[in-house]
Order: sequence, then structure tokens, then C-alpha cells
Amino acid sequence: MLQLTQLAAWQSLEQHCHTLREQPLRTLFDDDPSRFDRFSIRLDRLFVDYSKNRITQQTFDLLVELARQAGVPEWIERMFSGDAINETERRPALHIALRQEGADAIVVNGEDVGIAVRETRAKIRTFVESVHSGRWRGHAGEPITDVVNIGIGGSDLGPEMVCLALHDYAVDGIKVHFVSNVDGAQIAQVFENINPRTTLFIVNSKSFTTLETRTNAETARAWMLAQGVAEADLAKHFVAVSTNIEAAEAFGIEPENCFPIWDWVGGRYSLWSATGLAIALYVGMDHFEQLLSGAAAMDGHFRSAPLASNIPVIMALLGIWYIDFFGAESQAILPYDYRLRRLPAYLQQADMESNGKRVRRDGVAVDYVTGPIVWGEVGTNGQHAFFQLLHQGCHLVPADFIGCVRPQHGYAVHHRALLGNLLAQTEALMRGQTTDEARERLAKRGCPPEDIERLASHNTFPGNQPTNTILLDELDPHTLGMLIALYEHKIFVQGVIWGINSFDQWGVELGKVMANVIIDELAGGSTPSDHDASTSGLLSHCKERLDS
Ligand code: F6P
Repeated sequence: MLQLTQLAAWQSLEQHCHTLREQPLRTLFDDDPSRFDRFSIRLDRLFVDYSKNRITQQTFDLLVELARQAGVPEWIERMFSGDAINETERRPALHIALRQEGADAIVVNGEDVGIAVRETRAKIRTFVESVHSGRWRGHAGEPITDVVNIGIGGSDLGPEMVCLALHDYAVDGIKVHFVSNVDGAQIAQVFENINPRTTLFIVNSKSFTTLETRTNAETARAWMLAQGVAEADLAKHFVAVSTNIEAAEAFGIEPENCFPIWDWVGGRYSLWSATGLAIALYVGMDHFEQLLSGAAAMDGHFRSAPLASNIPVIMALLGIWYIDFFGAESQAILPYDYRLRRLPAYLQQADMESNGKRVRRDGVAVDYVTGPIVWGEVGTNGQHAFFQLLHQGCHLVPADFIGCVRPQHGYAVHHRALLGNLLAQTEALMRGQTTDEARERLAKRGCPPEDIERLASHNTFPGNQPTNTILLDELDPHTLGMLIALYEHKIFVQGVIWGINSFDQWGVELGKVMANVIIDELAGGSTPSDHDASTSGLLSHCKERLDS
């Protein structure tokens, strides 16, 4: 297998990064008036400015060369042609097939996957239209007003993030709710806001074995029965999305109310499939299809654009530049749009479950750092919380600022303040403020000379914090689809370069297995097994108090 750190481009980057370490970003701008044009790119209604990164043209060329030497173009083709690139699970990763429009057939196990995708999409459309038209009715003959998506991880984060983002496109008369946590407090709160006569539950689980989802689904079922709904009428209130249709049927969901997904769709890449049923119900099927077409537009760009003008590739390379050559440990996602407030959480799963790996595809341990810690918060709230550390703390934190140029509300003053803050923050993070500039600014504010000296260092900002700025003309289903697909492909390219499999998630298993043991012990179903002293102590502490 490819030895990443032995690649000529990697070794050149190692040398090259020394020259850039001390180079202030502001001087890179001063030295090159064409820097913004050179390092920014537009695709349709999505614009990316990556000029506020610690790169020169030479850095950029070396990074692109790294992608070439790591085989990124070949891997892109492998993904699009349906190769089993998820090697540990021996399957392809074909989320791109869920949004393809009239492209070549992708054959998996002798079958064109496009056929099943189209059939399922037609089934979703029929169902969504029957709910919206009121043809689909609850047990008391009333139309559906509330949809509750019960799922977790990829079966929750994507649908919830998109529904919040597309609030402006919601159809009249349908509210959506999300239940993910096994903490009963969440479903209890949802019950307070729904009516059993007019609620539809989607049990959304690729595996249909997930503890949280099964527990919540059972509770929803019991709640409906307790509200007086007859067992025979539950079918009017429950549908399922799963690869495991047998388990869904065993749970009591009618076969015609089960929507299939397939093992070649990763959970965190599944919002484009029936997993996104709540989205289609919330915004309507046409908007759902516009979301898919936005993603398809990004897919087309990703597959065909040369590496040097390929947005997901560029963003992946910039991430690798900081993680592997500058020691950055995290990646901040900062959407300056309230509607995108769940994007950081969504991207946490997308990125950290995909690239939080320490062995390569061949099982050998990596000798470099892989996926970053992804975190973030909506702007401008973050500015009044953690931006202090970005401006003056001791960590290098690459950040993506994401905003929309045009608002979809009538409050122009708010929008100018929002956008102005986004632009100002990236400028401040890039430029910083020298101690002389700090003195000057303090003097201008009328600060007495003795205070100027006392405060000058406290008002010094090192700057040099790298940022990308992603601007959508406006947030609509199409541009949102582009944005999400951009990140999916960025994550894939990073995984390719690091030589890891971005499509499995073995790391979540151990905790699940151990939780099952302890859950049983908490219920008194088995004698406590051989835990460490801390876990035994905590278990006894909980049991004593639960039993008292
Ligand atoms: O525990 C991790 C995980 O398997 C995720 O990968 C997945 O998105 C989530 O659990 C939910 O899984 P399912 O859709 O099978 O319930």
C-alpha cells in the first residue's frame, strides 16, 4: 500500500511548511494583489474564498501534487463506478447514486442500483403526496399534522439539519419533530406537543437494531396504545425506513409502509435516500428533489473538475495541510445562518465517524494524524463565547465560515450585521493586530499613556488563523444540497489521502457492547461482571440510589 509520508509531494510539503510557518498571512496579501482571484472559486450559486489560508502558489501546487500522487482521481472514479471501496464491509459507497440524474448505470451484484433508487423515490413521492393531500389519515379519520422521526446518528442528524435549514420551504400544516436520544426526557417532551390522532411516526434505522431507536419506537407504540389507539390502527401512524425490512415488519409495521435503503448507503451519507423521508414530508417532494439535484451538481463538479479547481479536493487538501504539517487538531464549522445551526453537529458525525481512524485500509497503523476534531456553533453567537480563544489563544484552529449573501426574511438591518460580522471575523483572524497597532488604537480611544503600555500586549492579536469562507447566494434546497455534498466529498478525499476507509465505523461498537452488559446489570438481570474499580463503584452508586 502507498506509503503516504514517503511520497515526494509529502516530503516537499514537509520542507516547504518551514518557510510558511513564520510568514504572516497579511504579508501574503500585501505581496500578491491577485491573491483573492487566484484562491477563490465559484460554482453555480456557491462561492468559496480560500485565500485566507497559509498557502502560496507553491504550497497549492504541492498539495495538488499530493492528491495526484495519492491517487485521488482514481479513487473518485472508483467511487462513482460502484467499486467496493468500503473494503472492511466489502461494499461500495454509493450515496452519489441516490441523486444521479440520467447517468450511466451503476451495477452492484449484477443489478443496476438506479432502478431501486427510482422505484423508492416514486414510492416516497406517492406517500408524501398522500399525506399532504389528506388522503392518508390517522385512525380517527383526520389528516396528519405532525411527523416524528425516530432515529439516531445518520438517521437523525441529516434529516433534522436539513429540515431546520429549509424551514422557509416547509409545506403548510406539517410540523416535524426528532427523537434520537435514549434519554426518555426527549420523547416525553415530544409527546407533550403532538396529538395521537394526527401524528405519523417514522422509525428510521438502517439496521433496525439500534438500541436508542428501538427503545424510542417501542415507547411511541406504547404511548399510542395508551392514548386509546387500537393495535389494528397503529399502521396508520407508523412507517419505517430500513435495510432490515423483516425487523421492521416484526416490529409491526405493514410491509407497504416500509421504505427500503441499501447496505451501499452509509448511515451518515443517507439523507438523500428514504432516510430523508421527514425532509420530503416537511418541505415537499419537489424541494427534496431540488436538494438531490444540488448534490448531483456538486457530484458532477467533483467527478470532472481538474484537481486544482475542484472545490472538495481543495478543501480536503487545505485541511490536511494544517492537520499534518502544522499540527492543527480541530476544524471549526461556523455557519453564519441560524437555519444552519445543526450543520456543525451533522458534520461532526460525517467527518469524525468517517475519518476518526488510526489504521489504514490494510490494517497497518498510520504514522501521521488523520481526521480532526470537528466542532462549531452558529454565528454570531460563537463570537460571544469561544472566539476569544480563536483570536488570542494558543491553538491553531482552521475554520470554515459559511453564510448566505441574500436573506430570506425582511430584516435587512439584521442581515447586514450578520454578514458584516462574518466578513470582519475572517479579516480579524487573518490580520490580527500588532502591538504597535494596538497602541495606536488605544490612543485613538483616548486611553491615558500609562494604560496604553499596560494594555498593549492584551490588545495584540497574532492573526494568521486560516479560514475558508463559503457563501451561498441564498439558502435553498439546491444550494444546501451542493454544500452538503461538498463536505461529503471533502471527507472522502481526505480519507483517500490518509489511506483510511471513510465508510466504516468499527469504533462505535465497543461502547455499544459494554453498554448492553451494564444496562442488564442496572436492571438486576445479571450479577455485575468484572469491571474496573471506577465502573464498579459507579454502578453500585447508581444501583443503591435507584433501588432506594
Ligand atoms: O452507532 C453508529 C451508527 O451505526 C451510525 O453509523 C448510524 O448512523 C447510527 O448508528 C444509526 O444507525 P441505524 O440507522 O442503523 O439505526
